Amino acid sequence: MLFKGKGSIGLDLGSSYIKTVKLKESKGSYELELFDIHTLPPELIVDGSIIDSIRLVDSIKEMIKKTGIKTKDTVISISGHSSVIIKRISLPEMSEEDLSESIKFEAEQYVPFDIEDVNLDFQILGPKEEPGAMDVILVAVKKDIINEYISVIKEAGLNPIIVDIDAFALENMYGVNYEIEPEKNIALLNIGASTINLSILKGGISVFTRDSSLGSNLHTEALQREFNTSYENAERLKRGEAVENVSPADAAAVIESASEEILSEIVRSFDYYRSTTLHEDISEVIFGGGCSLLKDFSSMIAGRTGIETKVVDPFRNIKIPNKFDGSYIREIAPIMAVAVGLALRRQGDR
Ligand SMILES: Nc1ncnc2c1ncn2[C@@H]1O[C@H](COP(=O)(O)OP(=O)(O)OP(=O)(O)O)[C@@H](O)[C@H]1O
Ligand SMILES: [Mg+2]
Repeated sequence: MLFKGKGSIGLDLGSSYIKTVKLKESKGSYELELFDIHTLPPELIVDGSIIDSIRLVDSIKEMIKKTGIKTKDTVISISGHSSVIIKRISLPEMSEEDLSESIKFEAEQYVPFDIEDVNLDFQILGPKEEPGAMDVILVAVKKDIINEYISVIKEAGLNPIIVDIDAFALENMYGVNYEIEPEKNIALLNIGASTINLSILKGGISVFTRDSSLGSNLHTEALQREFNTSYENAERLKRGEAVENVSPADAAAVIESASEEILSEIVRSFDYYRSTTLHEDISEVIFGGGCSLLKDFSSMIAGRTGIETKVVDPFRNIKIPNKFDGSYIREIAPIMAVAVGLALRRQGDR
């Protein structure tokens, strides 16, 4: 079943960049084989939906040409609160086979769309305290969204082998890079330009996920408004560069106030998690996505949540050969967290 060593492309189609990673595996350890960040024109993908598939296909083709990648097998992912539902539900104890048979019926009450319009999957988390019951993570993804992504990938000349979910890609990325402590709750937080993916792991397994349509575009927009400047200039300010008459310190103040909405969403999600799990503590936040490159954002999270917050290193256990610019990759690495998780998937995985 597993095609070990063959390796597929992990392709993270975000709203601001296409991120591509390919890994080589030998004897259970990984080495980076391909790394690319390709800037997308704004508004091709909005809130997880493909708005302009023709230009997106062109961008993927440009990336393929630029990187010279020959592999066709590709793993992509989908996120977004409007097309993906991930819920932890409690069901009577039953075997995996039995649940496969009845999942459609069980899922119906939890999925706010027509059950015929979604692809369903599940993962049994194990028995609950109450006898005869078990916890299950239910995943429902709208078929039309999956089809949109698959047809774009095919149009670009690639072969889509797995359509994953951002939150699970992050879980896989964590699994190869970090030591799993069975009793600890770890929050994996990925904040991109327009999406927050939150996944809480207990003993390395995702037990709670939530996607929100907020992201670091809020910073870009606030900077543009405040200093009456272009999108490009606002992006440079976010990187700590001075622009026209605006100093990095002026920009930092605007960034801080524009962070409020994101920070309160994080606090709300953590509170919600605690309220559904009899107040289990979250011991650490592992933070990635473009927003984590904003200086000070992780200390803002730590300040607001009171939880130690570390910027993710998706290459912590992955060797970066000398042919790459290692210091650049390490600097930008947090943006690649989802792509690394996708590159770790193999055909035949569930
Ligand atoms: N060096 C940097 N410093 C600060 N912000 C940065 C830096 N590099 C990129 N960003 C910001 O990161 C964001 C993009 O991050 P990311 O690649 O995680 O998002 P995405 O996956 O394209 O978007 P989404 O998943 O939300 O659709 C942009 O808002 C960009 O301004
Ligand atoms: Mg993203």
